[in-house]
Amino acid sequence: DLKGYHMWLQYQPIKDKQYKKAIAPFLKNIRSVENSPVLSNAMEELAMGIKGMFNIEVNYNLSTEEGIVIGTTDILEKELGRDVKSSLHEESKEAFEIIKDEKKLFIIGNSVQGALYGAHHFLRSLQLKKTIDQLEIISSPKNDFRMLNQWDNFDGTVERGYSGNSIFFKNDQIVQNKSRIKDYARFLSSVGINAISINNVNVWEKETFLITKKHLAEVKKIAAIFRGYGIKLYLSINFASPMAIDQLASADPLDENVKKWWKDKAKEIYQEIPDFGGFVVKADSEHRPGPFFYNRNHADGANMLAEAVADFGGKIIWRCFVYNCLQDWRDRSTDRARAAYDHFKPLDGDFLDNVILQIKNGPMDFQVREPVSPLIGAMQSTNQLIEFQVAQEYTGQQKDLCYLIPQWKEVLSFDTYHKGEGSTIEEVVAGNIHPYKYSGIVAVSNIGDDENWTGNTLAQANLYGYGRLIWNPSLTSEQIAEEWIIQTFGEEKIVRETILDMLLKSWPTYEKYTAPLGVGWMINPGHHYGPNIDGYEYAAWGTYHFADRDGIGVDRTEKTGTGYAAQYQIENQRFFEDLDTCPENLLLFFHHLPYKYTLKSGKSIIQHIYDTHFEGYREVEELIELWNKVEAYVEETTFNNVADRLSMQLANAKEWRDQINTYFYRKSGIKDEKGRTIY
Ligand code: GCU
Repeated sequence: DLKGYHMWLQYQPIKDKQYKKAIAPFLKNIRSVENSPVLSNAMEELAMGIKGMFNIEVNYNLSTEEGIVIGTTDILEKELGRDVKSSLHEESKEAFEIIKDEKKLFIIGNSVQGALYGAHHFLRSLQLKKTIDQLEIISSPKNDFRMLNQWDNFDGTVERGYSGNSIFFKNDQIVQNKSRIKDYARFLSSVGINAISINNVNVWEKETFLITKKHLAEVKKIAAIFRGYGIKLYLSINFASPMAIDQLASADPLDENVKKWWKDKAKEIYQEIPDFGGFVVKADSEHRPGPFFYNRNHADGANMLAEAVADFGGKIIWRCFVYNCLQDWRDRSTDRARAAYDHFKPLDGDFLDNVILQIKNGPMDFQVREPVSPLIGAMQSTNQLIEFQVAQEYTGQQKDLCYLIPQWKEVLSFDTYHKGEGSTIEEVVAGNIHPYKYSGIVAVSNIGDDENWTGNTLAQANLYGYGRLIWNPSLTSEQIAEEWIIQTFGEEKIVRETILDMLLKSWPTYEKYTAPLGVGWMINPGHHYGPNIDGYEYAAWGTYHFADRDGIGVDRTEKTGTGYAAQYQIENQRFFEDLDTCPENLLLFFHHLPYKYTLKSGKSIIQHIYDTHFEGYREVEELIELWNKVEAYVEETTFNNVADRLSMQLANAKEWRDQINTYFYRKSGIKDEKGRTIY
């Protein structure tokens, strides 16, 4: 029973006697006022948590006057003898409220899902030792869509998976023993996730058949597990399914046979799973089939599918990661960063209202530093989701430590100016800037079947934080980290402070020793771990840095460059194009500059590169020193897990430091002012 398995739901015994005494009277009885699988799960969780933290076996009745009552607004109204609705009815369906009423505690949801979130909030608050008065709360999610994408393949591998194999699939089958899926659902619901797609966006041959009789019975079981935790199940589909599954001559979205095929398919799926979420679609992207093949556009493709699922309340989540991955590196007129906007912006208004576009947070691909995608918020009449990557494909692959909440917070706080000042990404995706019918946030998950789920145990903080952040984006990175640390490692001061310090330093540190000043890439092709400065420079993927003996960076200005900057509102275009205002951490994303160009720090670009790379390595050594401080307080397996990964990180940082410094020294011939070792 390794602790790492339980992630942040460990329910560690509370030692503080006074606290126990004050809370315990409320915990002896719990009762749900209605029957539902979601509420049963909430009760089970409450019982488990109370047992773990307070060593109390709960009774399932309220014959006494003390205890917890859980249920939905309408029914609990009567119990409480006052108008509960008045405080909750303005809130979203998933909102919850916790009320203390003499010796009873009411956990009330606007729906059973809301009540479950309330139960989790309650348990979390106990573990964080909140007083009874602090427990009273009304909470409503800022985003309606709070989704995860698994990139799991049918053979059990996980694309960009750094935590073992899939918990859903094994040897071309859906796993029989689904207990781990149930635990995953518990973890996800505890941080408010309400939708999941379980198979890779790249839908290969075998996965194509997930939507057929052969597999639907098993898919249905998974849907039922997630349903019990308020999570809707989606599947990624192959756009060419009619051909692959039933040998139709075409997958043309305007072909009547194709339309009928999808309609029948939708009916078949919804017969099995009446609340099925819908399809996630990666089309015309990295060699996946799509409407372009038939000279149709993305609205044609998405709408055809949307029509098929509309009667059942289904949604089509259509990815915008569409670009030319067969670019000739000699071609300087094509800029991959422009692609999503160029493809989709002209289609604004053409999509049906059950289509939602899924847009990566940056215009390239989850680099450690990218500007915010100009497409987000640029389409007034098309539903949008922003996509983050919890999996650390480009941020250390769950070997290197990289706490990503600060990065996502920066993205959410970016002002698009689409409806004047204050049109932040946070408000755009919450549906407060344009009247989107559906919007929110989705992310690539980082879990696998490793005992501790996430490879590096500290990477659990990213999954936890993702859920917490998108429920309530006003939480700070520190708050989220502290919550996670206390639930996961206990409340010992030194553990709390040290791990917090490590997490908060980790993103800046990673950025320092990898590709400089927003230019990105410079990684090993294929697996994307470790440095390879020219690895993609003469390749077809559109990811170039253009370093020569004089300078480096990509000119994306309107005047002299690719014009990418003009995809933003004018305020942002000016901001990025002007060297005085362009954030320095994005300088080489927007500009090609000489190595001797002077930064605001007074340093030249080349000296900045040398300095940050020596610093980045040094900071990894510091992370190791910090981790060693907690050895006595953390269980051995976890201590060793993180220690091992930190030593891999150190080796990685060394390789980055020395390759980057050497490469740019050789290109530029300019020496390090401090005379440190460069090869
Ligand atoms: C990245 C990643 C791929 C993935 C793709 C996507 O390019 O490396 O593995 O399939 O993103 O998001 O579709």
